[in-house]
Amino acid sequence: MTERIRASARSGKGDPFAAAVRATRMAMIITDPRQIDNPIIYANDAFLRLTGYTRLEVMGRNCRFLQGPGTDLDTVARLRAAIRSERDVSAEVLNYRKDGSTFHNALFISAVHDEDGTLLFFFASQLDVSERHALAEERDRTRAALDANALLLREIGHRARNDLQMIAAMLSLQSRNSTDPAVRAALDEAIGRVDALGALYRQPVPEDERVGHDLGDLVREIAQTLVEASGRNDIAVTYDLAPFRIRPKAAGSLALIVNEVVSSAIRHAFPSRAGRLILRLARDGEALIVTVEDDGIGATAAGGGFEATLIDALIRQIGGTNRIQPRNPLGKVVELRFPAGHIEV
Ligand SMILES: Cc1cc2nc3c(=O)[nH]c(=O)nc-3n(C[C@H](O)[C@H](O)[C@H](O)COP(=O)(O)O)c2cc1C
Repeated sequence: MTERIRASARSGKGDPFAAAVRATRMAMIITDPRQIDNPIIYANDAFLRLTGYTRLEVMGRNCRFLQGPGTDLDTVARLRAAIRSERDVSAEVLNYRKDGSTFHNALFISAVHDEDGTLLFFFASQLDVSERHALAEERDRTRAALDANALLLREIGHRARNDLQMIAAMLSLQSRNSTDPAVRAALDEAIGRVDALGALYRQPVPEDERVGHDLGDLVREIAQTLVEASGRNDIAVTYDLAPFRIRPKAAGSLALIVNEVVSSAIRHAFPSRAGRLILRLARDGEALIVTVEDDGIGATAAGGGFEATLIDALIRQIGGTNRIQPRNPLGKVVELRFPAGHIEV
């Protein structure tokens, strides 16, 4: 059998297996470990095409001539150890063609023993996986760029949050130092607005701009902050929030709008008794609907005031509309409609 392989390796004729090895597009070689330095005794055409050498140039040489300065030495040591102990081994190794160009070689080496366990040959196949490598490297680079971006976003978010906290602290100091109740009320409203914007930065920063903010989380956070800040423990809030991911660009306006509508309800709807607020997010075809419902006395802010003007301006800014209806039997429903296409990610 040994002689048969040696002969067919030499001539490459007569044996159907040898014919298949010769014709395949997979590069293949056979080496002879009984000769000094385990030289190549057979190389198929695919191996010659892959490496750019002629048959004459490769026959009789150990395969390490394919290696070069960029080849990983640990991988070579692993190959050496496996070959020495006559084990099969696979590895990806950087190899060099005759013209000096490189390729990533997915190498598989198998030790061929006879029935008595005596080592006869090594058989190897070589596959050029450079393209897959390039893709993996590209993916790693993209991942690294995204990581850097996310880090930057977190840092910016952190700074913005600190700045907003500082503004709120300054307004609060100003409010405490004022004896005029109207000035104090105006400053406290301004603090509420700064807090609403702050809610954007208290949420986890999205890894990627395209992921956007969860509007439900934002609504919940703003409403909770407002109820806590009002000092009223007789206002219950319930939520019915459909999932919506909104663009960072629209998030600031929406946070302020929700802040205004909810704080207005807290201020005007239940002046002297307990109450209930229901906040809803729903989809109606192409529209995102935000509803703030209360069971209060039905009052709203006086028309034409700053509060109403601000709400109108913010709603218009993102293409929305605003409708207030009485609620049966008590209270009112503020319904805000926004074109989902403008604000959803
Ligand atoms: C059958 C066979 C095929 C091999 N093919 C390759 C190859 O395509 N590329 C490569 O870098 N090393 C290949 N090697 C490994 C080297 O020939 C050599 O064993 C390795 O460099 C470790 O030994 P060394 O430290 O003496 O160089 C092959 C080894 C055998 C036995």
